[in-house]
Amino acid sequence: MSEKVIPYKNSTESKKEQVATMFNNIAPKYDFLNQLLSLGIHKGWRKKTIQLIAHNQPKNILDIATGTGDFAIEAMKLNPDRVIGIDISEGMLKLGVEKIKKLNLQDKVNLKLGDSENLPFDNNSFDAITVGFGVRNFEHLEKGIHEIYRVINHGGTFAVLEFSKPKNFPIKQLYNFYFKYITPAVGKLFSKDASAYTYLPESVKAFPDGEAFLTILRKAGFKDCKSIPVTFGIASIYIGTK
Ligand SMILES: C[S@@+](CC[C@H](N)C(=O)[O-])C[C@H]1O[C@@H](n2cnc3c(N)ncnc32)[C@H](O)[C@@H]1O
Repeated sequence: MSEKVIPYKNSTESKKEQVATMFNNIAPKYDFLNQLLSLGIHKGWRKKTIQLIAHNQPKNILDIATGTGDFAIEAMKLNPDRVIGIDISEGMLKLGVEKIKKLNLQDKVNLKLGDSENLPFDNNSFDAITVGFGVRNFEHLEKGIHEIYRVINHGGTFAVLEFSKPKNFPIKQLYNFYFKYITPAVGKLFSKDASAYTYLPESVKAFPDGEAFLTILRKAGFKDCKSIPVTFGIASIYIGTK
């Protein structure tokens, strides 16, 4: 089991409540900081993740922890009938809904409040499910993964994009320095929530990446699980099939 890392050390709220509060706080600057702190690299990772669910031409796609909707929007490139995005942060969703309206995608992309650990959908409802930088924030990771397994169709593909820990010199050292010093400083400067960008490296450190996450996927029932490190292992894409 991973160690529980929370955004606000002195809070008595649950991790889920704290995570929702934190993302509500940083929502107005989330997209800007994502782009700045990742130097734009996240766009290529998202593209690659969506390409990996393309093979069975999914018509119903669910994007969990959709935030401001970037994955839901990217998924539209697969020409599905509908994409649903759910998230526990109203602040993030509000910005996502605005983006989707601007792109005139509102007939097909629907974002709404929802918790990964208690998904408001029937069994076997989606052809593909994505989670981008979300699983690390789940309060009960295994419960969330079990719920995802329940609502995905047999034969459906589950794809996760998440930060991972590079293992080799000098990327490992550079990454640790960047995450420990640069990320919190830049995050604090722009987002006005100092805890959020300290929580980021701490939650990445505590997340069971690589083989440990594949074990969790297999335990939930997923088959043909694999991890694909991207950009020297700074992030990884995980794939599983029901
Ligand atoms: C780092 S953001 C990622 C947003 C988006 N997927 C992206 O790729 O940019 C993490 C999101 O996970 C959401 N989240 C955390 N725990 C969740 C849960 N249990 N159920 C649904 N969403 C959750 C947060 O509210 C936040 O919007």
